[in-house]
Amino acid sequence: TANAMWGGRFAAGPDAIMTAINASIGFDRRLYAQDIRGSRAHAAMLAARGIITSKDAEAIREGLLTVLSEIEGGNFPFSEALEDIHMNVEARLKDLIGEPAGRLHTGRSRNDQVATDFRLWVRDQCDAAIDGLRGLIGAALGQAEAGADWVMPGFTHLQTAQPVTWGHHMMAYVEMFGRDLSRFQDARKRMNESPLGAAALAGTGYPIDRDATAAALGFDRPMANSLDAVSDRDFALEFLSAASICAVHLSRLAEELVIWSSAQFRFVSMSDKWSTGSSIMPQKRNPDAAELIRAKIGRILGANVALFTVMKGLPLAYSKDMQEDKEQVFDAADHLMLALAAMAGMLADLTAHREKMEDAASAGFSTATDLADWLVREAGLPFRDAHHVTGSLVAMAEERDVDLPDLSLKDMQSVHDAISDDVFNVLGVHNSVASRQSYGGTAPDQVRAQIARWKALL
Ligand code: ARG
Repeated sequence: TANAMWGGRFAAGPDAIMTAINASIGFDRRLYAQDIRGSRAHAAMLAARGIITSKDAEAIREGLLTVLSEIEGGNFPFSEALEDIHMNVEARLKDLIGEPAGRLHTGRSRNDQVATDFRLWVRDQCDAAIDGLRGLIGAALGQAEAGADWVMPGFTHLQTAQPVTWGHHMMAYVEMFGRDLSRFQDARKRMNESPLGAAALAGTGYPIDRDATAAALGFDRPMANSLDAVSDRDFALEFLSAASICAVHLSRLAEELVIWSSAQFRFVSMSDKWSTGSSIMPQKRNPDAAELIRAKIGRILGANVALFTVMKGLPLAYSKDMQEDKEQVFDAADHLMLALAAMAGMLADLTAHREKMEDAASAGFSTATDLADWLVREAGLPFRDAHHVTGSLVAMAEERDVDLPDLSLKDMQSVHDAISDDVFNVLGVHNSVASRQSYGGTAPDQVRAQIARWKALL
């Protein structure tokens, strides 16, 4: 039988495979609350403008509330033949209230309807991401505060570079997650305009009030171009892009936690709550949550690439290709929120082993740069020469299998006679980090200043 919504033009119904490829109700039912909210705003506006009677608007309002409670109560008769959430809701409304239901779609199209629903949904996800990031930043700040002056090796190329502090390392992630947070805030601001009333693509001849529906839905204003309103999904791309960058940050921190919790590093231990065991190896304590967080970028960036690829080359205005936007965004959002929450919980419960980190910081000639700087400062050597002298001392220490401070003054003077006893002051890792007083440096004072700034910001 022909379709109830547009059957006037059709003699026969669709092929079963057509129904299967066309239907989106299997996933877009997640937009039910947004869809009903949008319809209520639209109906109220139609009545306020005298386009429908207030009696019909009232029937629509009550009917939509019934639909909402049916869906939330799990007793809504979803139908694949009705294609999507928009037509499922409207068809049910007709069952419930009869004729007035047919007036709801006046001056509206599914094109502006779905654009509106989806914007409302993605807007909520921006808020959820912002909340999740706040929690995560709080957890990282907690670690940073506890260990603002705990010394650990800083790495480049994963080779020991210079000593830094645990607090400094944690605060590096606070900065990254802070930028992620502001990216979601920016995206939210930009997407907060209403497509509703763009109708199919050209606007409508009915005397609608787009400002009213925009305000009712919490949008800052109506979108200024009806073609743009129904065609673009840049708000979803922006969300996915912000999510991808955030997932990269999460992945890098997760990777560090995996490395640091290994027996070879032992910088950190994860709590039981965030670890798993092995069914065969009794000693195992695996960082599964960190590994899964590390992997989430795969699906989140995958969603991003998928939607970019769907959108590229689409002529204006709406094309059904755009129905493929939702699953990608749903999946990416779900997994981002899960990863943010898991990382926040894992960090909050994480034990950092101060002594283990400080021992590691003292190894690997991490204060060689301090020695070179000392030669520049105290002996007047050009930095390049100081670098060379220090390199020879490192080679000497390495050959004897000792650390730099274990060389005797005599040994040092055999390489350069300007070296004096007080060079040993700069070879300790605590002195090294304390000396890094430049703005943003690893000196505990600097780190504490950044912690205070972030605590005031949150
Ligand atoms: N389910 C559709 C989507 O997700 C709704 C819009 C349909 N519009 C249309 N002209 N067929 O995009």
